Amino acid sequence: MSCILEAPFMIEMIRTVTNMYDHGWDERNGGNVSLMLEEKDVAEYLDTHRVLRTLDTGFTAPELDGRCFLVTGTGKYFKNVQYAPEVNLGLVRLTEQGQKAELLWGFSDGGRFTSEFPAHMMSHVARLKVDPDNRVIMHCHPANLLAMTYVHDLDEKAFTRTLWQMCTECIVVFPEGVNVLPWMLCGTNEIGEATAEKMKTARLVVWSQHGIYGAGKDLDETFGLIETAEKAAEIYMKIAHLPWKNVITDEQMHQLEKRFGMKAREGYLD
Ligand code: 13P
Ligand code: ZN
Repeated sequence: MSCILEAPFMIEMIRTVTNMYDHGWDERNGGNVSLMLEEKDVAEYLDTHRVLRTLDTGFTAPELDGRCFLVTGTGKYFKNVQYAPEVNLGLVRLTEQGQKAELLWGFSDGGRFTSEFPAHMMSHVARLKVDPDNRVIMHCHPANLLAMTYVHDLDEKAFTRTLWQMCTECIVVFPEGVNVLPWMLCGTNEIGEATAEKMKTARLVVWSQHGIYGAGKDLDETFGLIETAEKAAEIYMKIAHLPWKNVITDEQMHQLEKRFGMKAREGYLD
């Protein structure tokens, strides 16, 4: 059996969380990532009958029964993952309608999965219904998106349109726009349910005064989504207080729709 630290999914996870830290999106223990895996892929590296511990999840998600996830640990620092993956990451399999998680590898200091596990798992359920290829849920605290939630209207259409106007290719990368939640208490089933509801119509969900959630078919795509939205928010925060002389018009965005063969969210463009 090969060493799990050499598994492509493990290498990609470690590279991604390191990159997120390097981008300044994950101070201290900020942020969390979950990657859904096929049990047969895990079985190349682990004896999947050997359960190290069984953890309560605190929610029910029958759709995810038997699914495996590589996930970041609660209280763990992304900057440390590359040096001690087995302490900072865990690989779990959900059982009993998602109410239990069997630890197959990791969390070796007795730790457990992120406190945002409910938001991750409920978002996986929501995204899989829209896109059966979805595999990743990613949460982080990028400074400019966060800053924007203090000074910009939180209306989803207005927030989305501003981001689209900040870089030409934003509308191409996230034509469905971004959804926005008001401030809510994090780490709860309630914010998990609210996030999952918003995930039904967009792969990006802003948590006001907190951060952002992204979803995608792989780690690269999800990272790229958040990276693009954060770049747009950065430009907004650079120019918000200045007089605007130019803007990307709705007519130009319609040209982008044609050029890239995509459709902006219904009713968001004039
Ligand atoms: P965890 O350390 O539990 O993953 O929490 C970090 C975070 O960003 C909470 O929203
Ligand atoms: Zn957070």
